[in-house]
Amino acid sequence: MKIGNKTTSDIILGTFAMGGGTSWQDTTALDDELIQLMRDAYDLGITGYDTAPVYGTGRSERLLGAAIKDHREDVYISTKVCLNWRNTEGSFEYARDGYQVYRNFNRKSLIQDTYDSLKRLDTDYIDLMIVHRCPPIDCIKEVAETMNELKEKGLIKAVGLSNVGNVSDPIKVLDTYLQYGSLDLIQEKANILDRKNLDLLPYCEKHGIVFQNYGGLVSGALSGNINKEMASWKGDNRSGNRWFKGDNYLIVKDVIDQLTPIANHYDCSVPVLALSWLKAQSPCLSLLVGARRLSSIKDTLKVLDIHLSAEDIEALNEISRDANKRIKED
Ligand SMILES: NC(=O)c1ccc[n+]([C@@H]2O[C@H](COP(=O)([O-])OP(=O)(O)OC[C@H]3O[C@@H](n4cnc5c(N)ncnc54)[C@H](OP(=O)(O)O)[C@@H]3O)[C@@H](O)[C@H]2O)c1
Repeated sequence: MKIGNKTTSDIILGTFAMGGGTSWQDTTALDDELIQLMRDAYDLGITGYDTAPVYGTGRSERLLGAAIKDHREDVYISTKVCLNWRNTEGSFEYARDGYQVYRNFNRKSLIQDTYDSLKRLDTDYIDLMIVHRCPPIDCIKEVAETMNELKEKGLIKAVGLSNVGNVSDPIKVLDTYLQYGSLDLIQEKANILDRKNLDLLPYCEKHGIVFQNYGGLVSGALSGNINKEMASWKGDNRSGNRWFKGDNYLIVKDVIDQLTPIANHYDCSVPVLALSWLKAQSPCLSLLVGARRLSSIKDTLKVLDIHLSAEDIEALNEISRDANKRIKED
């Protein structure tokens, strides 16, 4: 798939969990193992990697930089701006692992974020720079002009916004951004259990913007790897996910049960079926999937060989709509 002017693999590897720290409390892998995992993914055909400064406060970016050093031109790196732990300017976002993370949309801070990422990634340019949190309307002009400036300098090649679907009027944000700059991609949470952001697909199709999902496997919940213990992991990124809260995990289990016979029909796993359903939503959809195990990556790549029938897509749409109705927020 083409994002901006460069082509990347149809499946992008998410490296959030590889950053480690308490945001994924069952992560214990060593640096060398994770670098090898990123290289193994490349050998399997994955050329796109998504990272962010805050994924392990710099660790994910540093490991990625080391992993792709010998074939930089052949890979597609996306990282992010606006969340940093350099100082206390901007608005407080969260505290984790001894770091205080702040959200800052001003020009100087976004430029510094970019230079910090270039250094950690040990590269001269970033293929896609994503604004990690959706900027408030009154900051959009400054953000867009700063991204334009970074592009003109050749430090970034394409631009994305993330979590636009979290604000009350996403279309107004996107329309405003497009007044001041061009937008190659939005990165939004979307999966069979959380379908709301898919409402942005027609806008993306109309404006030639790639819609890249994150959380396509509900942070791993669709693998069946979810229980009450995880919901109690304070600070773990997944405990903030509504599907890990209260008894919602029972709905997840029920959805997995409904997906299983369809997955068996396609001779694939439930995660592969759920991702194939997502991919089928639009030609402008780019699949971003996180992993810490090579077996997960190998399995996920089977999505490329699955072609769901229109009938099965509709059956899955129905399961999705029903699950979205049953969700309890707490
Ligand atoms: N823009 C944002 O605000 C934002 C927010 C969150 C995430 N992201 C990005 O999106 C990426 C993906 O999101 P995510 O990591 O939160 O969640 P995800 O992709 O929904 O789930 C990742 C989890 O699914 C498991 N998994 C992957 N493939 C599997 C398979 N075929 N079978 C069974 N299990 C499988 C992995 O397990 P193992 O770990 O055991 O391999 C991993 O723990 C992140 O890494 C990050 O790059 C962006």
